[in-house]
Amino acid sequence: MSNNKVALVTGAIGGLGTAMCKKLCQDGFTVVGNYRNAAKAQEWAATMKAEGFDIKLFEGDVSDYEAVGAMVKKIQDEVGDIAILVNNAGITRDKPFLKMTKEMWHEVIDSNLNSVFNCTHHVLAGMVERGWGRIINISSVNGQRAQFGQANYSAAKAGMHGFTKTLSIEVARKGVTVNTISPGYIGTDMVMAVREDVRDQIIAQIPVGRLGGTEEVAFLVSFLASEQSSFITGANLAINGGQHVS
Ligand code: CAA
Repeated sequence: MSNNKVALVTGAIGGLGTAMCKKLCQDGFTVVGNYRNAAKAQEWAATMKAEGFDIKLFEGDVSDYEAVGAMVKKIQDEVGDIAILVNNAGITRDKPFLKMTKEMWHEVIDSNLNSVFNCTHHVLAGMVERGWGRIINISSVNGQRAQFGQANYSAAKAGMHGFTKTLSIEVARKGVTVNTISPGYIGTDMVMAVREDVRDQIIAQIPVGRLGGTEEVAFLVSFLASEQSSFITGANLAINGGQHVS
């Protein structure tokens, strides 16, 4: 059943993004996806269409403030006002800190944290004006705990939740909720890129005994996007199989 609300998922064509787009579609949202890799996007769009999902894709580098502004305007003109923003786009550049280059640091902070400012800044005023909105920030268990080789990623992901907390109280009276979801190790390409022996050691530390499913995270995203979640704001919802319990 359609609820006419437009949801934008950044990094839509990745493993988590794809599951989120599908679930939001199934739950009646009008879903638009953001991507950066044009070659992969065409194939993704064809697959979604073949599976019966009507998802429009919009190109834009989320680490580029002006590019995001142009993308948001295009979405508003072609689809409608954005009611739900899922800040999902993100990358890893893992290295022990002493081997981490300045480029590896900046790439991750730009793509994973500055992107959250860029996207939120372009959609929030409209949400406040209309008196309804959802900002959902996809962080990580590694923003809550230490992970060898991820000083850049952990800093960005922890920063994301700091942003959530402050922004949530600034817009609490305006019908806009701001929340963080912190997934643990989910069966995505990003996690499968970790060296097998390192990954096996990590999985051994997950009490549930397995990687998470992308659809499990997507379910939580769709719940936070819903009308029923309106009293949840400033929260950090962990979904990590018990790997980090705080
Ligand atoms: N704890 C302590 N020491 C460790 C260690 C660990 N976990 N891992 C490696 N070391 C030590 C090594 O023994 C080695 O020591 P010496 O120099 O004394 O021999 C030193 O650190 C360097 O190790 P490497 O040569 O193996 O380092 P490397 O340059 O190959 O990089 C790494 C290692 C690639 C960062 C590797 O540690 C790694 O892949 N870590 C996992 C990172 C990770 O979990 N990424 C998650 C990606 S998915 C994601 O991020 C999604 C999400 O939100 C969860």
